[in-house]
Amino acid sequence: MMTETFYVTTAIAYPNGAPHIGHAYEMIVTDAIARWARLQGKETFFLTGTDEHGIKMVQTAAAEGITARELADRNAARFKELAGRLDISNDDFIRTTEPRHYEASQEIWRKMAASNNGDIYQSTYKGWYSVRDEAYFDEDELTDGENGKKLAPTGAEVNWVEEDSYFFRLSAYQDRLLKLYEDNPDFIAPEERRNEIISFVKSGLRDVSISRTTFDWGIPVPGAAGHVMYVWVDALTNYITGVGYPDANSEQFKKFWPANLHVIGKDIIRFHTVYWPAFLMSAGIPVQKRVFAHGFLTSEGKKMSKSVGNIVDPHEQLDLYGTDPVRWYCLREISFGSDGDWGREKFINRNNSDLANNFGNLAQRSLSMIQKNFGGLLPEAQPTDAERTIVATAVETIGKMDLAMKTQQIHDAAGELVSLLNAANLYFADQAPWGLKADLRRMGTILATTADIVRRAAIAAQAFVPGSAAKFLDALAVPTDQRLLSHALGASGVSAGTALPPPEPVFKKFEIAKPAA
Ligand code: MSP
Repeated sequence: MMTETFYVTTAIAYPNGAPHIGHAYEMIVTDAIARWARLQGKETFFLTGTDEHGIKMVQTAAAEGITARELADRNAARFKELAGRLDISNDDFIRTTEPRHYEASQEIWRKMAASNNGDIYQSTYKGWYSVRDEAYFDEDELTDGENGKKLAPTGAEVNWVEEDSYFFRLSAYQDRLLKLYEDNPDFIAPEERRNEIISFVKSGLRDVSISRTTFDWGIPVPGAAGHVMYVWVDALTNYITGVGYPDANSEQFKKFWPANLHVIGKDIIRFHTVYWPAFLMSAGIPVQKRVFAHGFLTSEGKKMSKSVGNIVDPHEQLDLYGTDPVRWYCLREISFGSDGDWGREKFINRNNSDLANNFGNLAQRSLSMIQKNFGGLLPEAQPTDAERTIVATAVETIGKMDLAMKTQQIHDAAGELVSLLNAANLYFADQAPWGLKADLRRMGTILATTADIVRRAAIAAQAFVPGSAAKFLDALAVPTDQRLLSHALGASGVSAGTALPPPEPVFKKFEIAKPAA
């Protein structure tokens, strides 16, 4: 049987500054999706990276008195470092300044230029451009700001540009795009976003300017001296560079393209669901299968901004709380697809109730009783109805997690995990094994069953809190080749009599009143 494959990507961030919590959020959610696919036994490829060209990089670098390349090098390293600290399982990290990406971008350009007697033509662009958004805007989308400034719908200032430019015939793709959305109802998620895009495309599409001539920090347009590609053309192409394009016959490309899922923020959905599929169709490359647009994070209820000075630094949060609590908050507290908030009190409550009190306690209590009463040897379970019920609940709940993950309802999947841990804690409290010193057989059954529930929960939890889940699985002596979803749903791979190492607490509680150490 052929192993099913799964290719998932994040957006590639502009390395014009240090990563903030929104970038961390996107890495974490995408990582949970990638790890879940691996748990399902799929051959998975997970790509993230940095989007290094464009005028924004040039201007930020100039303000700091360094080159765009120096700025990109410095900050790309910070994004990589963050991915490491967040325990992100990306298989590759692409930088759009790499030679492989120049090749891919120039090849897709050539393909678009050659298609339909030319989807690319030369003209003059006259219109508004927002450097912050790296996007063009129509006059009727703008509002008036202070001092006669014009503002894009994002609030960013726009400038008037007039330059010789190549255009992509996006207007010719309206019907094909509408058919794509129609034929593939899962192409855009969440549903509200899909509806927005459909009405946007129905209202008519203009051709887009896809090259720039007033600066040179970009990928040269093949055969057109003085033109560099509009940064979004090259940025979107990263998704195919990452799996080997332009070598469309390579094993990797054939295996993983079209991507199963692009995870992005809601602000860049048009680029991913209108421009990108049109570019691909034009180049004769299959279109990605799905785009999921997540929401934006605020900080203690307020929009994060440099001027307010409330940008949440993920490194600071990691220093305070550690990797898995940060991951857990992103996955469990924030409903995937909606906006969310980064708030200290909510964070600590979430950590204490779900991780420390629920998951941590269940494991710690059962495992330390095994040490104390059975010399650390996993006792034998002789199940009664109570044991059969809790095991059935575990299997059923993990099945629900799987179902939720199929449509990226990550917070629901995380919620199911919590409900399983609640049920297991209730079972443990009801059975009160601590009072059964005179009936070690019965006590052993309860402890072994609880350990088995921790095993199942920890297998599923690997997608969410991988470091902690691995500690639980090690403490339960679960062999590393028995940590897939199929094992969480099947019989225990750990036999009675197996020696278990003394358990160490895995999660910590934090106090709201004072900052964590
Ligand atoms: N470089 C482009 C993406 C190109 S993808 C081919 C870009 N970069 S970005 O650095 O501005 O944003 C990177 C990702 O972070 C985007 O998906 C964006 O939506 C997301 N976020 C930026 N700010 C965010 C929050 N405050 N909250 C959550 N995600 C946010 O756009």
